[in-house]
Amino acid sequence: MDPHLKNELMQQLIAEISICKKCGLWKNRKNPVPGEGDLNAPIVFIGEAPGRWEDMESKPFVGSAGELLNRILRKAGLSRGSIYITNLVKCRPPGNRDPHISEIESCSPYLDQQLDIIKPKIILTLGRHSTSYMFSKVGLTFRSISEAQGKIYEAKLGGSKIYLIASYHPAAALYNMQLEGEIEKSIKLAKDLMNKVEER
Ligand code: URA
Ligand code: SF4
Repeated sequence: MDPHLKNELMQQLIAEISICKKCGLWKNRKNPVPGEGDLNAPIVFIGEAPGRWEDMESKPFVGSAGELLNRILRKAGLSRGSIYITNLVKCRPPGNRDPHISEIESCSPYLDQQLDIIKPKIILTLGRHSTSYMFSKVGLTFRSISEAQGKIYEAKLGGSKIYLIASYHPAAALYNMQLEGEIEKSIKLAKDLMNKVEER
C-alpha cells in the first residue's frame, strides 16, 4: 500500500479511537493509547492494555514494563522506531486490572484494522491476552502462554502468510527474573526471522 495512504488511514483510525466510547473504559481514561511506530515495519508487537504511564502519555510501553521491553529490544538489535507497537485494548483498565472479554470484543476491531493497514509479515504478541486473541484469529488453539511462547507459527491473516510469535508479557518479568530470558529468546527469534523475511 502507498505509504501516504497508510498514514492517512492510520490517522483516521487514531481519530476514531480518540473519541471512542464503545466500552466503559473511556470513563476512566486520561488518554487512549492507539499505538506508535513505523507503519512500514515488517513486525508489529501487541501488548495487553495501557497502564498508568501509558494512559498519561498516550504512548504504549513507556512505564516500567516498557523500560524492560526497551532493554530487551536493544539487546536484540531492534529499535522502537523500527517496529510498530500497540495493544489489544486501547484504554487503561482501572487499577491495571485485566481487560474484560466484553472490552476486548469492543476494542479488538481497532487492532484488526491496524494490522490490515500495516500488513506486517511478523506479529509478536506480549502476554496471554493478545496471544490468545491472535491465536483464535488465525485458528490456532491457545492453551497457556507458557506452552505458546518461544515458537514460530505460520498462519494466514487477511489472505496473506504471516508468522506469529508469542512471548511472556514484560510486566511478568518484573516479578520473575527468569521470564526476562524467555522474552529475550522470543524477541531474538522475531529479529532473526525479520532479517530472513527482509532478504527476500
Ligand atoms: N503493558 C501493556 O500491555 N501495554 C502497555 O502499553 C504498557 C504496559
Ligand atoms: Fe473504545 Fe477501546 Fe477505549 Fe473501549 S478500550 S473505549 S473500545 S478505544
